Amino acid sequence: MKTLKRLSATMLLLIVFVFCSGTYSQEIKISDNTRTCLDCHTSLHPGIVGEWEKSAHGRMAPSAAIKKQGMERLVSAEKIPEALLDNVVGCAECHMINPEEHKDSFDHADFSVHPVVTPKDCSVCHSTEAMQYEKNIMYHAYGNLMNNPVYSDLVTSINGIQTFENMSLTIAPPDDRTNADSCLSCHGTMLKVSGTETRETDLGEMDFPVIEGWPNQGVGRINPDGSKGSCASCHGRHAFSMETARKPDACSRCHKGPDVPAYPVYKVSKHGNIYSSEEKSWDFGAVPWTIGKDFSAPTCATCHASLLTDTEGNVVAERSHQMNDRLYKRIFGLTYAHPHPVSPDTTLIRNKAGLPLPTELTGEPVEGFLIDQAEQDKRKGAMQKICLSCHSTGWVEGHFDRLENTITTTNRMTLTATEVLMEAWAKGAANGLDKKESIFNEGIEKKWIEQWLFYANSTRFASAMSGADYGAFDNGRYYLSKNIQDMIEWLKLRVKDKEKK
Ligand code: HEC
Ligand code: HEC
Ligand code: HEC
Ligand code: HEC
Ligand code: HEC
Ligand code: HEC
Ligand code: HEC
Ligand code: HEC
Repeated sequence: MKTLKRLSATMLLLIVFVFCSGTYSQEIKISDNTRTCLDCHTSLHPGIVGEWEKSAHGRMAPSAAIKKQGMERLVSAEKIPEALLDNVVGCAECHMINPEEHKDSFDHADFSVHPVVTPKDCSVCHSTEAMQYEKNIMYHAYGNLMNNPVYSDLVTSINGIQTFENMSLTIAPPDDRTNADSCLSCHGTMLKVSGTETRETDLGEMDFPVIEGWPNQGVGRINPDGSKGSCASCHGRHAFSMETARKPDACSRCHKGPDVPAYPVYKVSKHGNIYSSEEKSWDFGAVPWTIGKDFSAPTCATCHASLLTDTEGNVVAERSHQMNDRLYKRIFGLTYAHPHPVSPDTTLIRNKAGLPLPTELTGEPVEGFLIDQAEQDKRKGAMQKICLSCHSTGWVEGHFDRLENTITTTNRMTLTATEVLMEAWAKGAANGLDKKESIFNEGIEKKWIEQWLFYANSTRFASAMSGADYGAFDNGRYYLSKNIQDMIEWLKLRVKDKEKK
């Protein structure tokens, strides 16, 4: 039965490749190792094999790819190891690369295979993308959250299991699986190989590594080879397609909630409207990507990452996997909007109070850790140059002038909420920094979190990416104003209550 299954798999494969070689040149050369993987995996995982066959990796060998010159070249490594040059990039080429660095390598059908293919593995052929990605805040998303004592306290206050006894609330620290299912689903988990297990498979008993924190494709995942992130977070495996990453759907999974609503804002923006109605006639595979010819309104990638040219072939923007190099302000408030941090590792920052936050509690940006005016102007200019391919200077300046104003006014509304909170701490109505207590675990503190994390952020994202309702009634200014009134009501009641006692 087993042999039969493998035989039929091999035959199917032969048919596929005869068909392929008829349609798409003779270039498809598959290594012997990958052929062996396919013998079993074609019937085990038709979903994986089918996707790979259609992908760029399944069709083109590095030796052909490095012949492409200039903007069209997609393989950035200067030198690719001889052994990887002539065959297409198959199962064995990715899952057996750098074996000695992988704690998840295991003995599999006489090969040393690792299930987790990392940015370091991809960098053997795509070195520029991997290097740029390391300068991204996304690359540090695990540590930025979990190694920052203020933010990890926020994690505990949200994910911890609460119990109510004798009129008081206790919060137990969250377990790893809850964190993996919550914050770390996007920020990335820490993968740890904790042993080996024997599993019954379609082909009999086999050994596999036990990897804690897996599966996960968070942007800052800590990998078993010491590298960070997952290229598959935007280039889903096993298609690893550029087209997918150029569409807003690639970012929607993570840039969505009330704290980070870039995707919903984009969807209701005029840009998003035009994308929805016209994307079928756009060319998402063209390299370079030509404004006006291949598409007529921007996607997330257009503004934040893509290599863009005009119809005369002039470069409008260089491609970047460092997605902050067109961003001058961090509009995601921590707790106020501020110039972008110099280092993507935000745990390095210290404010005057000694806290790892980019702003003071009263709103001033901390000195020394944030980009200066010249760098801000440069990045803002790079972003505006993209707008100017489709809009006039007056339109673009008007837009950014409004964004500046929104940053000022939303920061002011966060300050007002913070002043109410500090009054509550001073009056002993809540326990905060002065008592060295958590600043996230009481009723009024939760309202304060909502002020900056939900309403101020939503209003700024709406202003930056033109989705007005998210800045008005949908988590926007309506709630920014109402929330302050609710906080003051709460405080007055609490103080009255204390006076009665
Ligand atoms: C003799 C058949 C056979 C061969 C040959 C084979 N595999 Fe597998 N492989 C399996 C089976 C069976 C599983 C388990 C599938 C399951 O549990 O659903 C598996 C699982 C895997 C997994 C997932 C491991 C995990 O921890 O979940 C990876 C990755 C993998 N194989 C890669 C490869 C690569 C790469 C090759 C070639 C170098 C290869 N396999 C060759 C049969 C084979
Ligand atoms: C946050 C999303 C995101 C992540 C994560 C990501 N990419 Fe990309 N990638 C993109 C986008 C968007 C494009 C399209 C760029 C363009 O239009 O010029 C792209 C294009 C590419 C291309 C084709 C163009 C080129 O650069 O030659 C390659 C290769 C690539 N990425 C490799 C990688 C590798 C390797 C990693 C991991 C280190 C990675 N990507 C991680 C979003 C991402
Ligand atoms: C370009 C590199 C690349 C190639 C080629 C490749 N893989 Fe993968 N594979 C990956 C990445 C990346 C992941 C996701 C790992 C992660 O995020 O932990 C993965 C995951 C897997 C998994 C586990 C995923 C799951 O959902 O259970 C299996 C099994 C697997 N690959 C088998 C194969 C087989 C079979 C082939 C050949 C047809 C293949 N891979 C080709 C990079 C590759
Ligand atoms: C052994 C070399 C090699 C490795 C390792 C490798 N790639 Fe590629 N990659 C290629 C080649 C060759 C192409 C096709 C280039 C072309 O079409 O010009 C390609 C193309 C791509 C593209 C563009 C696809 C498109 O739609 O045009 C992306 C994205 C990409 N790779 C991502 C990855 C990721 C992510 C990894 C790691 C999981 C990876 N690659 C590992 C060689 C490699
Ligand atoms: C798997 C989840 C995930 C996906 C998919 C994802 N992101 Fe992110 N992104 C994050 C997280 C988490 C952060 C914040 C990390 C931190 O603050 O430590 C972030 C940060 C960013 C930032 C701020 C960057 C900086 O360095 O300042 C930009 C811009 C961004 N992402 C754009 C994109 C775009 C565009 C896409 C789609 C092409 C995308 N992201 C896809 C999770 C994701
Ligand atoms: C759906 C995906 C997603 C989930 C789940 C998620 N985040 Fe994030 N987080 C993001 C994105 C995207 C950003 C970056 C926003 C930006 O820069 O505009 C971010 C950034 C952050 C930052 C800023 C870190 C820094 O210094 O750069 C903190 C703090 C944070 N998140 C806390 C949390 C907490 C706490 C949880 C769990 C309760 C959580 N996040 C869950 C997507 C997510
Ligand atoms: C028309 C261009 C444009 C499009 C399309 C666009 N953005 Fe933005 N994005 C901006 C501008 C402008 C800013 C604010 C500038 C700044 O923060 O310096 C911004 C800010 C952001 C930030 C905040 C980063 C921070 O520092 O806090 C994230 C994250 C982001 N965008 C992700 C996305 C995602 C995801 C999409 C698609 C769903 C998208 N953007 C679509 C132009 C765009
Ligand atoms: C590829 C072309 C393209 C690019 C690039 C582009 N836009 Fe647009 N934008 C459009 C089109 C088309 C419209 C719809 C205009 C109309 O219908 O009158 C639009 C509409 C707008 C609107 C009107 C929104 C509304 O709801 O009233 C604003 C504001 C805007 N864009 C700002 C920007 C900014 C800022 C940038 C750069 C960060 C940018 N655009 C980049 C094509 C583009």
